[in-house]
Amino acid sequence: MTETLTSTKLVTGLEGVVAAETRLSSVDGQAGELIIAGFPVEELAGQATFEETVYLLWHDRLPDAQELISFRAALAARRDLPPATLDLLRTAAAQRVAAIDALRMAAGTLSLQGADDPEQQALTLLASFPTIIAAYGRLLQGEEPLAPRPELGHAANYLFMLFGRTPSPEHVRGLETYLNTVVDHGMNASTFTARVIISTQSDLISAVVGALGALKGPLHGGAPGPALDMVFEIGDAANAERYLRRKLEQGERLMGFGHRIYKVRDPRAEVLSAAAARMFQGNGHQALYQLSRQVEQTAVALLAEYKPGRNLQTNVEFYTALLLHGLDLTTDLFTPTFAIGRVAGWIAHCFEQQQLNRIIRPQSVYVGPKDRSWTPLRAR
Ligand code: COA
Repeated sequence: MTETLTSTKLVTGLEGVVAAETRLSSVDGQAGELIIAGFPVEELAGQATFEETVYLLWHDRLPDAQELISFRAALAARRDLPPATLDLLRTAAAQRVAAIDALRMAAGTLSLQGADDPEQQALTLLASFPTIIAAYGRLLQGEEPLAPRPELGHAANYLFMLFGRTPSPEHVRGLETYLNTVVDHGMNASTFTARVIISTQSDLISAVVGALGALKGPLHGGAPGPALDMVFEIGDAANAERYLRRKLEQGERLMGFGHRIYKVRDPRAEVLSAAAARMFQGNGHQALYQLSRQVEQTAVALLAEYKPGRNLQTNVEFYTALLLHGLDLTTDLFTPTFAIGRVAGWIAHCFEQQQLNRIIRPQSVYVGPKDRSWTPLRAR
């Protein structure tokens, strides 16, 4: 149902404003429930390959065996980057540009592939992200980029291109669980950005580049790096309360906590903490996992004390940090890796927006003066 109304009521942060109908995901912030194209995140995340999840979002159903083979092949055929993209990444690495900015600039160069057709652009964007990020990660370490391996799946190939070795099944499962978990999440800031851009009848690459800009900010996708830094700085559970209290006393935000929609623990935190625990079984990260649990408990208790009634709970980013660290990713690559998953959601939202498009164009309330008189430059 759509409603047409002209209101001068200001809703800061557009909180509670419904901007679209979607079949892609449902976020219930009171119940702590996330449904992705009909599946509870708990059911989908740990079982689907990332390609199956993307197909589900783009086609509103799971693929059969043949469709999945074709989809995987279509992506694998588009993993190579144009030479100009690699040149740009080399220049960016020489200047130590942040990885998320390098990804944004490189995503823009995908227009050089010459595909105007939205379906081709969608496949190219999805397929290229892991190649861009892995190439950039290696260039930052002074290593040469590695060519993609077409026989590997999307997640496994990303890990291969980063580290130059075939990843373990546990690591591939951990990464697929992560990518599935973050693939879509209602009308979040970057998804809204993508929908606004595509609603002007712009193209998918432009929409995705804009969405990357929105994702970068620490209030959205930029939180996991600082969340992990915080756990490392705490170092020992005995320091947690003193450290966190000091941050809150100084008016700082605790990264990885609080959410516009969730007023209970983000269900993705549970999926990712369980995935991290499975992945860490028997390796050196066990102690870090225990420390993170203790930091989480202390943080939630202190947030209740300092911000009573706000229901500030753990969000997806806290355990994203732990899981991606467990995959040996450096913190600089956390937000770009989030984008490897979320780009599929942005594209799905763009397709949805295009189906019933009306330009997204809200209003503002003017609060400035209306009676200024012009002073010539020489008289100012
Ligand atoms: N640490 C400390 N205080 C927090 C907080 C956090 N992580 N998140 C919210 N608050 C406080 C705010 O300071 C504000 O307090 P006040 O009313 O005393 O001024 C109150 O809780 C409400 O915050 P508000 O900014 O209005 O909530 P929001 O819905 O606009 O913001 C987030 C949601 C996610 C941006 C916010 O919770 C946040 O900044 N979290 C940390 C960053 C993060 O983890 N982002 C990833 C999101 S998935």
